[in-house]
Amino acid sequence: MYNIGSYEERLKNFDWNIAKKDLGILDRSTWNIGELCSDRICRMGHGSRVAMYWEGHGGKTATYTFDELRIHSNGFAHLLRNTLDIQPGERVYVFMDKMPELYFAFLGILKAGCIVSPLFSAFQEDSLLTRLSDGEASAVITTPKFVKRIRKLLPRMPYIKHIVVTNDLTGYSPQEKEIVHQVDRVHVAHFESFQADPETPSILHYTSGTTGKPKGAQHVHDSVLSQYLTTKWILDLRPDDVYWCTADPGWVTGTSYGIIGPWCTGVTQVVFEAGFRPRAWYEILEKYGVTVWYTAPTAIRMLMREGDEIVREFDLSKLRHLCSVGEPLNAEAVIWSEKVFKKAYHDTWWQTETGSIMIANYPGIKIKPGSMGKPIPGITAAVLDPATYTEVPEGETGLLALKPGWPSMFRSYRRNPLVYEDKFRNGWYITGDRSRIDREGYFWFVGRDDDVINTAGHLVSPFEIESALLEHEAVAESAAIGIPDPINMEVVKAFVALKPAFDPSDDLSLKIMNFIRKKLSPLAMPQEIEFVDSLPKTRSGKIMRRVLRAQETGEPIGDLSTLEND
Ligand code: WT7
Repeated sequence: MYNIGSYEERLKNFDWNIAKKDLGILDRSTWNIGELCSDRICRMGHGSRVAMYWEGHGGKTATYTFDELRIHSNGFAHLLRNTLDIQPGERVYVFMDKMPELYFAFLGILKAGCIVSPLFSAFQEDSLLTRLSDGEASAVITTPKFVKRIRKLLPRMPYIKHIVVTNDLTGYSPQEKEIVHQVDRVHVAHFESFQADPETPSILHYTSGTTGKPKGAQHVHDSVLSQYLTTKWILDLRPDDVYWCTADPGWVTGTSYGIIGPWCTGVTQVVFEAGFRPRAWYEILEKYGVTVWYTAPTAIRMLMREGDEIVREFDLSKLRHLCSVGEPLNAEAVIWSEKVFKKAYHDTWWQTETGSIMIANYPGIKIKPGSMGKPIPGITAAVLDPATYTEVPEGETGLLALKPGWPSMFRSYRRNPLVYEDKFRNGWYITGDRSRIDREGYFWFVGRDDDVINTAGHLVSPFEIESALLEHEAVAESAAIGIPDPINMEVVKAFVALKPAFDPSDDLSLKIMNFIRKKLSPLAMPQEIEFVDSLPKTRSGKIMRRVLRAQETGEPIGDLSTLEND
């Protein structure tokens, strides 16, 4: 493990300039994420190192070196700036599957000095229109498969100047006048990257709030300092690693740690275009000899459900470090991974807004299964009283907050200054999560600020209830919400999806209740269990309790654009 030293020692000596020195960006001229992820790695003599092993649908594969990454991203930068005359600061969206072009375009847009906004390829009209309009997109880079969806919206998007269609252009003929361009992969040996400074806008990531339309969290090129250091220290990436981040770049994990982190450290990564399938995932791990793996709790729980037997069919001996992000990682999942992979998943906590990992079970500290870990060096986190915004005593639940000022912090919600300002109180950034800190300084996730159940004045974490339910042999997935109650304000209702071998019945419901009664405080006990076939989830796998709550109470659901249908 890369030893980052004791927590206290690092905090004392901490300086983000370590990253500046390592990345050679002591002057402004090379402060551009696109250039740091490709040209700089080549200048260091690693141009022939593999940057990306790509595996597409149907077993298609391709390998790209850092030098190829450099020239293909130059191609996009050149196209935007020199051919299409798009100016630095204009917004360019990328709308495609996890194709190699997505990665080339992403870096190329940054090299051109434009703002890149990645869109999930599953987005349909409304989700697209909301984001493209809010960002007043100048251009969209897409593929023949998706261009129709964009063209349909064109009459409602007067700001769009160009649509760029890449890849496999056979048989594709644009009727759409001059604004649709077909480009084949462009090889451009040299492109002078835009001289970004640390505050030059870089990535615009839309994130769904509890209410209203998605908000565009605006990041800047300075973020690379945080992404570089956390990639080294928390993901523990070293030059000879083969790294796999399972996230889509439509989600911040897929850009901060699926593009910037690994490539600015010159590490080879695997990109797997297809979605989750246990066997296929184990095959990828074995085939590419993955050493460091960053994934999400839902996927881990699905792997757990698949059993231990299948794991033994594969040689996963190269795996060295496992990390997880996005939602609470149950203690059982950590214990399971120790059993089957002989390695524990390291939970990491962060948000679209934070741009990089903030709290983690990081190398060098003891893992506490079920805990998110400790704030990483350079980050000050606290738990605050919701009324006074001052720190609560150890062990008490409150608002999870961070001291602003780290490099990858978002700089605004686009065109939404009021919501942005509302996130800051008493010198803290309020994350919207609730948490508590134990005696050893470990942070424990309690729930989203808006998902915490308040029953008779006591805060109860849905996560605790769900974890207890998950321990029952019949339970595949669960969600707990607060439903209105005239006396206690709220009481707990649980939704349970059963494993295939079990059928819903009153008897089973009673058995589950009796089982969890032993694990939970009486206040946390559900008044009711409802059996469901599946639970509503976001694209990144988080259970959307607010959808269940809305069904119960008739309150508005809000934006559902990242909701997936099972
Ligand atoms: C929210 C942020 C950073 C990429 C993830 C998605 C929840 C994230 C954890 C964790 C418990 C977690 C929080 C957070 N979350 N990581 N390790 N344990 N909850 O980014 O879509 O902006 O969501 O995801 O509620 O606020 P995002």
